[in-house]
Amino acid sequence: MPRLLVVGAKSKTAEAVLRALRARSRGDWEVLGVSHRPGEPREIYGYPVQVVPGYHRRHLRNICLWWEPELILNTAAVTDVDRCERERQHAWWVNVALVEVLVGVCRVLGSYLVQLSTDYIFDGANGPYEEHARPCPVNYYGKTKLAAENVCQSSGISVAILRTTLIFGTPAPWCSDILGWLRQRLEGEGPIPVAADLYTNPILVEDLAQAIVCLLQERPTGVFHIGGRSWVSRYEFARAVFDAFGYPQERLQPVPAQQLYAGRAQRPLRAGLKWEHFAQRWGIVPHSLAEALEFLRQRGYSAGARTE
Ligand SMILES: NC(=O)c1ccc[n+]([C@@H]2O[C@H](COP(=O)([O-])OP(=O)(O)OC[C@H]3O[C@@H](n4cnc5c(N)ncnc54)[C@H](OP(=O)(O)O)[C@@H]3O)[C@@H](O)[C@H]2O)c1
Repeated sequence: MPRLLVVGAKSKTAEAVLRALRARSRGDWEVLGVSHRPGEPREIYGYPVQVVPGYHRRHLRNICLWWEPELILNTAAVTDVDRCERERQHAWWVNVALVEVLVGVCRVLGSYLVQLSTDYIFDGANGPYEEHARPCPVNYYGKTKLAAENVCQSSGISVAILRTTLIFGTPAPWCSDILGWLRQRLEGEGPIPVAADLYTNPILVEDLAQAIVCLLQERPTGVFHIGGRSWVSRYEFARAVFDAFGYPQERLQPVPAQQLYAGRAQRPLRAGLKWEHFAQRWGIVPHSLAEALEFLRQRGYSAGARTE
């Protein structure tokens, strides 16, 4: 029975992975979640969650060495790009130093690591990007995520770096995503400005979870890209969401990213990731945006606040 440690257990990615494991394996995975957040949930789909306040280095390391996981999935990160810009030391601690701790554990135990990364490691000049494209982050969040990749790449451990794009569609009330952010903005009044020239191929969280489960099962090493099938601007994304859920389109206001994010972290404008290599290798075809929204509409989603 594989033993898996999930760090950042209360992230939306972890929630979807744990849900997928519970649905498909009927108990043939032993899983322990680790979270820095006290309070509910204390277990997710029956998998226990241990709290490590602040991801204290020694405490985290001790839990890892006690649990002796064969596999570690790290989904923990400060994903608010403006917060990363403002609170650099904290962002470095969570996004990079924490990965160093996990790499150290993998070295001792011989464990396999899946580290999540992002299209924000690219400059956004000509996305969507293939796996071999040259990284060049334009904000501090992207720099920390690239630094974490470098920690993994130079470690000599068995590791997969899975880069992904804007993640949406979480059903978990303890998580946040862009759908929740849009819905929150709807509750206020006035126009909702959305960047018209900021592109990526957003991914349904279920598709991302499926990709992660493939990696955990087969344990390949290297850099992998996964994203959704539709490459759209944030404005096009928001329009499609409003259309799917019957929200008033006239509230959406397309604005240039330069204006919307003035005084805030720079965004890579034409980002996104080519997912075709992953699809060819594992036979996973991610949803298009229209398919994903239809899936969510049928499920009836719920969501919270803001993310990358
Ligand atoms: N969000 C996106 O659209 C996006 C896009 C591309 C790549 N990614 C990458 O994909 C991975 C998963 O992202 P996600 O969107 O699923 O994550 P998320 O829902 O934003 O959650 C991130 C988790 O990281 C931990 N965390 C956040 N802030 C922290 C802090 N200040 N101190 C300590 N821990 C903190 C928390 O885990 P606990 O509460 O369990 O400790 C939190 O649940 C990350 O590596 C991210 O960089 C995300």
